[in-house]
Amino acid sequence: MNSAETLERFRNCLEQLLGLVFPEGHHGLLTEVLRKRAGRRKLDDYLSELETSYDEEEISRLAAELTVGETLFFRHEKQLQTFIQWALPQRQKARQTLRRLSILSVGCSSGEEPYSLAMLLHQNFPVPDWKVQILGVDVNRKALAVARRGLYSSWSIRETPDHLLKRWFLPKGDQFLLDKNILELVQFEERNLNLPNSDLWLPGRWDVIFCRNMLMYFAPEKASRLVAHFARSLADGGFLFLGPAENLRGISQEFSVYYRDESFYYQLAPEPQPAISPLPLPVPRTRRPVATVSAPPRPGLNTELLRELLDNERYGQALELLERLPPSPELSLWKASVLVNSGKLEEAERVCQTLLHQPQSQAGAHLLLGMCRRELGELGAARAYFEQAARLDGQLALARVYLGMLLRRLGLAGLARTHLRQALTLLEKESEQRFLLFGGGYRRSAWQALCQSELERCPK
Ligand SMILES: C[S@@+](CC[C@H](N)C(=O)[O-])C[C@H]1O[C@@H](n2cnc3c(N)ncnc32)[C@H](O)[C@@H]1O
Repeated sequence: MNSAETLERFRNCLEQLLGLVFPEGHHGLLTEVLRKRAGRRKLDDYLSELETSYDEEEISRLAAELTVGETLFFRHEKQLQTFIQWALPQRQKARQTLRRLSILSVGCSSGEEPYSLAMLLHQNFPVPDWKVQILGVDVNRKALAVARRGLYSSWSIRETPDHLLKRWFLPKGDQFLLDKNILELVQFEERNLNLPNSDLWLPGRWDVIFCRNMLMYFAPEKASRLVAHFARSLADGGFLFLGPAENLRGISQEFSVYYRDESFYYQLAPEPQPAISPLPLPVPRTRRPVATVSAPPRPGLNTELLRELLDNERYGQALELLERLPPSPELSLWKASVLVNSGKLEEAERVCQTLLHQPQSQAGAHLLLGMCRRELGELGAARAYFEQAARLDGQLALARVYLGMLLRRLGLAGLARTHLRQALTLLEKESEQRFLLFGGGYRRSAWQALCQSELERCPK
């Protein structure tokens, strides 16, 4: 094989694995990295390995060698001001009931971006009873290790305002150690954003997504897929910030772009466009505030403990808790619910299929199957499952809510209104336990508010 073909193959691997494209000018870099990573292996063998298996560590190393990790604290400062002065108050209002704010920094590199957000939030969002989550994700393991350590060079802090430098950084030799209180506000996860990462993209999960200076390195169709995930997982009215040199032209039509105080930001377009991209509904399903009303005690299953585990997104432990109990259809329903919440849709569907003919759990199983199909973008199937759930259990309020919201999205306003009105009546009597099982643990009042606002958005 000649070297042009070899490089082309390497390029293809990088696009398939990481979503990244390397234009012509990168010959030298690509050749060097290919040789280095192949080591003693023949280039051909190494490429075959890349083509046929997924080695997380190797992918992370390739990313470390090939991606631009350049970043700094308080980069694109105008955007950060827009975030604080414009986006934050709106999200605070929107999340007043849940009292939870979730921010994602995509391609966070060595952490300067999410830590800058943490410092700004610390200063501008002093609301102690709120849960604030800032998550930074990147494929580069080395960069994430730097982020977790929190020790930075003077180059990284070159645009940090003096008062913040004094307050939050401790000089250590010629470096600067970030204060523990800020380190604790940010979590980091190693993620290849070219993979599905379905748990990251649960509907309505994020209030604000920063994805700055990364999309421009992505192949257009990979960028499109990632941005579709953003659209799915941003709460209604949520914000997306891209780098100033990036835009969504040719990548997504689901967002509208806005300009404010010298910076651009994106929000989901006011009306969805199912003909172009039928996305699942932005129904809040995860973020659980601690319940104010206790779930009724049930022999065997400790629902309070389960609720606590789910609140903290400890899905693995929640499943373990369920596995320890004697199997029953009811327990399988709980298991399917946890699987849906953790984004394990295939597994959830498998469990639900076993419950479809069990009288106590068949309505619930249909409802959860509908949620899975909706997440997969199969709106017709989702609708059929929701309808069946509502038929099987006429009191199941959340089946009507999901159905009503889906119908509205499909443009069937009249039908949507009927179901949403019925849902409002049923929600008053719905049990706390069913909010945990099917409603992501959101309180009754949150569902009522959501239903009300859906009704208002149904054109007459
Ligand atoms: C230039 S940095 C951006 C840092 C920060 N967002 C900023 O604007 O200052 C781009 C980051 O994208 C990350 N990246 C590139 N491809 C990725 C992928 N497939 N999955 C996750 N991260 C990726 C790189 O590792 C790098 O850290």
